Amino acid sequence: MTNRLQDKIALITGAASGIGWATVTRFASEGAQVVATDVNLAALTALTDTLPKSSHPITALACDVTRAAETEQVVAETVARFGRLDILVNSAVITPRTVDPAADVAARWDAVMAVNAKGTMLMCHAAVAAMRRTGGGAIVNIASIMGLVGYPPALPFSDGFSAYPQSKGAVVQLTRDLGVRVASEGIRVNVVCPGFVYTALTANVTGDPAVHATMRALHPMGRLGQPAEIANVILFLASDEASFVTGAAWPVDGGYTAM
Ligand code: NAI
Repeated sequence: MTNRLQDKIALITGAASGIGWATVTRFASEGAQVVATDVNLAALTALTDTLPKSSHPITALACDVTRAAETEQVVAETVARFGRLDILVNSAVITPRTVDPAADVAARWDAVMAVNAKGTMLMCHAAVAAMRRTGGGAIVNIASIMGLVGYPPALPFSDGFSAYPQSKGAVVQLTRDLGVRVASEGIRVNVVCPGFVYTALTANVTGDPAVHATMRALHPMGRLGQPAEIANVILFLASDEASFVTGAAWPVDGGYTAM
């Protein structure tokens, strides 16, 4: 353990899985006071219960990021418990693959945009209000390579109307526009754009050997990423080491978008 986030108060959404959980454990190991939130509180507490008693304590709270009242409540609860909010990481996500297959194109689009785009905006809105009161903070959003480029036709993930890349493009632009607006107030806003990573989000597609091989080949490194490799960059952007970095979109993709 080092202390790159010593005494920082950090709130993380979508914390019960994948990149969100990797960020929770990494931040805690760096001395942060972590408030981990997820719509699935049972899954989150099942994870926090696995941590050794000696590890840095983590607070687990329920929050559905599509509900404005819940996003405001979870920020208010963080400030009530710990006095302020220094860091927000937005990791909550769904894909069209997990939306009811019987839903029509409009319903699927609404469902995905509600979590990925509106949810990120609502959390930023609640967090910025709290950060303004204490003189600053750092927000790290998570978009995707699909916020920067389209799905390659070699992958069977989109017919061109998938809400996922559209929602991730929205997160990139939210980051830039908000980052510009709050820069003079000591609030930094950045976004990481991961390549494909082994998490629950991709488990059903990496389970197909042919699709998995195509996904690997799209990354010049010849492999997918691990959640901890994304958390490493989130940590840097959230920390004071990134004090001159804002409004920036950071590919963390094994070279995917360079090819
Ligand atoms: P994941 O599917 O492993 O975890 C997502 C978490 O979000 C789950 O715990 C889920 O319960 C939670 N969640 C879903 N709806 C929610 C809601 N309404 N309110 C609060 N929480 C909610 O996802 P993963 O892979 O860890 O993704 C994290 C971030 O990284 C997302 O923004 C995703 O788009 C991004 N990303 C992931 C990639 C991958 O290949 N896994 C690639 C590029 C970006």
